[in-house]
Amino acid sequence: MKNIAIVCSGGDVSGMNAALKRFVEYSIVKGLRPYFVYNGYEGLIDNTIGKATYSDVSGIISKGGTKIQTSRSTRFLEKSYRTKAIENLKSHNITSVIVLGGDGSFKGMQKLFQESTDISFSGIPATIDNDIAGTDYCLGVDTALNVIKFSIDSIRDTASSFNRAFIVETMGRECGYLALVSAITSGAELCLIPEVPYTLDTYKSSFKKQIKEGRTYFLVVMSEALDKAEETSNWFEKELGIESRVTVLGHIQRGGNTTVHDRLMAFHFISESINGLLAGEKCSVICYSHCGFQHKPIEEVAYQKSHIKDEILKLGCGFWNKSKQ
Ligand code: F6P
Repeated sequence: MKNIAIVCSGGDVSGMNAALKRFVEYSIVKGLRPYFVYNGYEGLIDNTIGKATYSDVSGIISKGGTKIQTSRSTRFLEKSYRTKAIENLKSHNITSVIVLGGDGSFKGMQKLFQESTDISFSGIPATIDNDIAGTDYCLGVDTALNVIKFSIDSIRDTASSFNRAFIVETMGRECGYLALVSAITSGAELCLIPEVPYTLDTYKSSFKKQIKEGRTYFLVVMSEALDKAEETSNWFEKELGIESRVTVLGHIQRGGNTTVHDRLMAFHFISESINGLLAGEKCSVICYSHCGFQHKPIEEVAYQKSHIKDEILKLGCGFWNKSKQ
């Protein structure tokens, strides 16, 4: 029986626990012995690695976060610590490792593969930012979008009770995906993301006209990458004379009850990953697109820039243009 391990690395996402459950159950079905690496790549270095059982994963499918913890390891950037990590994996006779994480985690995984001789690796894209090249979907995105949706729907309740503008800042690092999809699906008046350059003053006459015609509040969804929530709020107060508030959603976007979509995607990603490793994949990432699941080399994933798909940007164009009318 071969030993297989799983590790979560970088920012946690809701859906990691569903993946851990599927990992234990499907490994056993496939005749493999499952191991958990606790505390991300730090745990590989510190040898916090242990056998995983059914009871470890019972009752966790709905919970956000990750039962085995995660970390952003700076020690892992040093070769001496990666050598230690390889020794630790070998001491448990682990011959394959599944990594749930983003670009940085996959680069680390590739280094580990190159420096070990007989350990195979499989990456599963897991980040709420949906900013990994080569895949249309990263685990955790749907749950994050739903958390944002609930938050914006609540903010609309209070916004519509006052004459106010609300500037809602979403996470996403350099990528505007979370802000854009949230703005579209919550009916915001404006969306500001790094992918689309803007000048607030171009919206002034349109917004003034809307106020004259009876609009009492504005919802603006903007990406954290711009770091301009306060500035935007001040613009609404100064240029439109409307009281304004900023809501930074922050880390609530990473947690929460895992949606059905993320539970299913977690199951698919893990099944594909284990099937791939058993079929001889050595170091690849499972990517999802309209073609289904594909194993892609790290170079196509971790070393390329991701882009928001044109079809989604086009949906956003609708309200950008409308705001300028
Ligand atoms: O990459 C996921 C993410 O949540 C980003 O959206 C955000 O910018 C960052 O992580 C926050 O990181 P930390 O949890 O280390 O503050």
